[in-house]
Amino acid sequence: MIYETHTHFDDKAFDDDREDAIRGALAAGVGRFVNIGASMDSSRESMELAHKYPEFLAAVGVHPEECKDLTEDDMAQLKEYTEDDNVVAIGEIGLDYYWDEPERDIQKKWFARQINLALETNLPIIVHSREAAKDTYDIIKAENAEKVGGIIHCFSYSVEVARQFLDAGFYIGVGGVVTFKNGRKLKEVVEYTPLERIMTETDSPYMAPVPNRGKRNTSEYLPYIIREIADIKGISVQEVEEVTYNNAVRLFGK
Ligand code: NI
Repeated sequence: MIYETHTHFDDKAFDDDREDAIRGALAAGVGRFVNIGASMDSSRESMELAHKYPEFLAAVGVHPEECKDLTEDDMAQLKEYTEDDNVVAIGEIGLDYYWDEPERDIQKKWFARQINLALETNLPIIVHSREAAKDTYDIIKAENAEKVGGIIHCFSYSVEVARQFLDAGFYIGVGGVVTFKNGRKLKEVVEYTPLERIMTETDSPYMAPVPNRGKRNTSEYLPYIIREIADIKGISVQEVEEVTYNNAVRLFGK
């Protein structure tokens, strides 16, 4: 069975066929999904999906690009959400210096604040980090995020950076980029990282793997990512599925 550790089925890209898309992913062998919040609204919608489908769990948190107008009331609301048994992580939270909006100090403030929330609630974090490796690492260390651990999702950095996050106890999230012809850097990271520290994810509806690159992504395509990981490591698809499934159960507790 396959564990989808990062999907956004609440996204409007699924408004016309959400039920069918979820059924398609189940039929493709995905046995468990973590639907990831990226805003206050999508955090609530992730919980709603987890209530509707027994295979779904939820992460609640606010993405760096969405954090500009956050308030302490929002933090209290997120904390209340975590009292729900279906909520297994805080995320996605982090830093995005590619879009670089809102300004970095605001992104850093809410990343650190949401790490505090994870520590208060004893939940792991799902980290979005783009062109911000050093600040991401520094904040994780400064805020003691190692205590709860988590996933560096859609990992886009070098093997050297992977080593730092692995040493800090984090998992490496591997998605569709690993199937891209120009995904050599991520292929090297997959080769380097022990299978016991890899998480499988699609980030659907974004980042569709080959042969569907450029189309709307859905968790149904996760087998393409798993096949690529198996090829890189020279092991069976079944072994990748089993080990990464157990990784996710270890982190999320279910
Ligand atoms: Ni995402």
